[in-house]
Amino acid sequence: MWEEDVRLMREAGVNLVSLGIFSWSRLEPIQGKHEFGWLDRIMDMLHEGGVRVDLATATASPPPWLSHAHPEMLPVMADGVRLWHGARQHYCPSSPVYREAAGRLVKALATRYAKHPALAMWHVGNEFGCHVPACYCDVSAQAFREWLQERYGDLESLNRAWGTDFWSQRYSEWDEILPPRRTPTWPNPSQQLDFMRFSSDALLECYELERAILTELSPGVAVTTNFMRFFKPLDYWKWAEREDVVSDDVYQDPADPDAGMRSAMAGDLMRSLGGGRPWILMEQTTNRVNWRDVNIPKAPGQMRLWSYQAVAHGADGVMFFQWRQSRAGAEKFHSAMVPHGRPESTPTWHEVVELGRELAGLDTVCGSRIKADVAILHDWESWWALELPSKPSIRVRHVDQLESYYRHLFDANLTTDFARPSDDLSGYRLVLAPNVYLISDEAAGNLAAFVEAGGTLVMSFFSGIVDPFEHIRLGGYPEPFRRLLGLEVVDWLPLADGEDIKLNFGDGTMAHADMWSELIVLAGAEALAHFSGSTLDGRPAVTSHKFGEGRAIYVATRPDVAAMARILRAAAADAEVKPAIEAPAGVSAIRRSGPRSSLLFLLNHRDVPVDVPVADPGSNLVDGSEVHRGLLRLGPRGVAVIREGW
Ligand code: GLA
Repeated sequence: MWEEDVRLMREAGVNLVSLGIFSWSRLEPIQGKHEFGWLDRIMDMLHEGGVRVDLATATASPPPWLSHAHPEMLPVMADGVRLWHGARQHYCPSSPVYREAAGRLVKALATRYAKHPALAMWHVGNEFGCHVPACYCDVSAQAFREWLQERYGDLESLNRAWGTDFWSQRYSEWDEILPPRRTPTWPNPSQQLDFMRFSSDALLECYELERAILTELSPGVAVTTNFMRFFKPLDYWKWAEREDVVSDDVYQDPADPDAGMRSAMAGDLMRSLGGGRPWILMEQTTNRVNWRDVNIPKAPGQMRLWSYQAVAHGADGVMFFQWRQSRAGAEKFHSAMVPHGRPESTPTWHEVVELGRELAGLDTVCGSRIKADVAILHDWESWWALELPSKPSIRVRHVDQLESYYRHLFDANLTTDFARPSDDLSGYRLVLAPNVYLISDEAAGNLAAFVEAGGTLVMSFFSGIVDPFEHIRLGGYPEPFRRLLGLEVVDWLPLADGEDIKLNFGDGTMAHADMWSELIVLAGAEALAHFSGSTLDGRPAVTSHKFGEGRAIYVATRPDVAAMARILRAAAADAEVKPAIEAPAGVSAIRRSGPRSSLLFLLNHRDVPVDVPVADPGSNLVDGSEVHRGLLRLGPRGVAVIREGW
C-alpha cells in the first residue's frame, strides 16, 4: 500500500507529511529494543517521491509495556481514578519514568534521522494536554510542591497568597499541600489557579525536554507541536515562544453557523502567538470527524474555503488529519484524504487533489505578513481565574466574551491580532478588552499608557477585579481602571437566564442586553447608552472617557449583536481603523503583504455567488485570471487571492 500512498501523494500535490505520531509501540516494541527498519523504508520512499517529513517524536501514546511495568506513570484524576492504557495520552506529565522513557526514544529518533534528506521538521508529542491536561497523583503532588517552593520561597508567602486563613486551610508543612483533589466543596481558588499554571508548565517541561534533545542532535531543523485553537489548559503564549513554527489543529463543526468566524479567530490567534510569523494548519479534516454525536460532512467547497481561510489568516501550510482512513482502531470513521473506498470515486479525493494543485501556485504567499490595527486582549491566566466557580455569575465565559467582540470584527473585515494585556500595544490603534478579570499592576499600567498615548480602548464588565493571586483589588471596582475609565462600579447585578435588560442610546435607538448589569457612578466619563426600565433605569450602561490623548469606552453589560456592532463601529471610527475593503455581507477580506507583493484574500462564506467590488486591478493567483477594477464574482464558497498591482 505504501507505494500507492506515495503515488497518490504526488497526485494530490502533498509535499509534507506528519509521520509516526502514535508509533512508539512499533518503534520500541519492547523496552530498549528499537525497530526502525519500517520507518527507514517509509522515509526513503517519501524522499524519493519528493515528499518531506514532519517527523513525530511519537511520545503522545506510551506503549503498554511501559505502563504495565510502571503503573505509577499513569495519570490520576482529581477524584483519585487512575486512567489506564488502552487508548492514548495515558501519562502523568511529571512522571520521571515517562520522561526518561520519552527522552530515550527521542534521542534514538534524532540520532537516526537528523541527517535524513526527507526530514523537514520535528513534531513533538501531539496535542499536549488534549485528553489529560492535569494529573493529581502523588508524583504530581510533589512536583506541584516544588513548583510552589520556586514561586513563593517560604510557606508564609504561600499562605498569604492563597488566603489560607479562610476556612482554616493554613499550611504548617510543605508536605501537607496537595493538588486541588476532589474536596467537599470548592477548593481554594488561588490553589486552583496555581495548579492550572503548574499543570501547563508540567506539560511544557515535557515538550522542552524533547526539544532540548532535538536541538542538540538535530540542529537547524524546526520544532513544532500542534495546538488546539483556544485550548484552555495550556498557556499557549508561553508555549509558542518555545516553538520554531506554531501549528494548529482546527476541526470546525459544519453544523455551526459561526464556524467560519470561529476558525478566522483561531487563525488570528495562531499568527499572534507566533508574533506574526506564518504558522501551519497542521490538522483539519477533509470531510467528517468521528467524535461528535452526529458527524455531518463538510459541504462541497467548504474544505477548500476553510483551507484558504487559514492561509488568509497567516498560515503558510495546509495539512490534514489523516492521510489514509484506517481499517481498525477508534478513528476508522474519521474521514481522510484517501478514503476506505476507491479514491477516484469520491468527491473528497477530487477536492483534495484540486486544492493541492491550487496551493502549488501560491508560493508568493509564503512568508508574507499581516498588519493589524486592532488587538483583542487574551490572557490564559485571566481565563482560568474567571472561570473558577463561586462568582457573581458563572455565565460569564472567556471565549464567549471574545466572540462577542470578534464577531463584529469578522463581519466588518477589521484585521485583528490577539495580544496579552502586558504586551507592547503601541502598534495598535484600537485595543479591545472583552474581559480581563485578572490583571497585574504592570499590565493595568500598560493599558492606561496605551490610551494616554492616543489609543482607543473598549473594555467590558468584570475586568480588573483580581490580582494574579486571585485576591480582590480593593478600593472600588474596577480598582486598577477607575481613573482610566472615569467611573466606579458600585455593584454588580447579574441577570437571570433568559432575563433581558434594555439599553437606550439616546438617539431613539433602543437595544437589548443580557447576562450582566452594573450600578455605575460616573467620575469623568460620559454615558453613551443608559439602562432602561429596570432598577437601573436611567443609569449608565456604556460610557466613554477621554484619557490623555486617547479614549476608554466601557461596556457594563452584554449588548445584543447589533448594539455591540454599533459600539465597536464607533470605537473603530474614533481610532480611524479601516476594513481591508468594504465587502458585501458574508465575504471576508484580508491582506497579506510581502516585500514586493500585496495579496488580497477574498473568501465567500455563502453558498450563493457574490459580487465583490475590487478597487485595485491585479491577478488572481488561484486561477491565474486577470482581475479588473469593478465587480469580481466569487462562486458559492468561492475564493480569490488577488496579487494587487500588475
Ligand atoms: C486530533 C489528533 C488526531 C486525531 C484527530 C481527530 O487532532 O491530533 O490524532 O485524533 O484529533 O479529529
